[in-house]
Amino acid sequence: NLSKELVGKKVVVTAGGTQERIDPVRFIGNDSSGKMGYAVARAFLARGAEVTLISGPTKLTPPNNVKFISIESAAELQDQVIKNFATSDILVMAAAVADFKPVKQSKQKIKKDPTNDRWTLELTKNPDILQAVAKIKRLNQVTVGFAAETTDLINHATKKLCEKSLDLVVANDVSQPGVGFNVDTNQVTFISSDKTVESTELLTKSEIAELLVDKVIKKTAKSNSI
Ligand code: C5P
Repeated sequence: NLSKELVGKKVVVTAGGTQERIDPVRFIGNDSSGKMGYAVARAFLARGAEVTLISGPTKLTPPNNVKFISIESAAELQDQVIKNFATSDILVMAAAVADFKPVKQSKQKIKKDPTNDRWTLELTKNPDILQAVAKIKRLNQVTVGFAAETTDLINHATKKLCEKSLDLVVANDVSQPGVGFNVDTNQVTFISSDKTVESTELLTKSEIAELLVDKVIKKTAKSNSI
């Protein structure tokens, strides 16, 4: 029986991958299933929080009792995160945001050019949403990011913690079996702004989500007592 420590707290969770339109029938996507973010949303609900789930397209059914916002692109995700973060206590960015989007989005389906076997698609950088959030973050707001890495996990994740002014980074080595995209399990390292580093075993994404929420509860308790 979990206690409802987060009654009255507003949480924004992002989940799934963004889709960046090329034309009306094509997009650039990624392998994110949304499973980790949805598990985080459910774990916050279980502790009594009011949850807004902002999600890219997934095969999952959103939990009951969340405010559900569906997005496609990183730009739409950014708009919704900024809008909802202002009145929230906690933000968990589990979404896999595309780093780049096409410079132009064609209104018509792009046709094959019979005279050319190659086609170059020009991309431009998407905004870093957590960096934008860092600029408007208040002292009593808690922000959590994810870091999917294949090398030098702790160094890369610690850099993210600082650059994005995060309270907690959940880092996973996505080159390991059973870890990261599309599976029901995960093995993570929690890197906290208080410099603690804690690695878990291979657990279900629900179990990881519960550990994450426990850590956030400790941080909200601290920021409330300042
Ligand atoms: O820098 P990197 O993409 O590895 O950082 C991952 C974390 O940053 C995730 O929490 C992700 O949701 C967030 N992110 C973001 N905006 C981006 C890219 C990633 O907020 N454009």
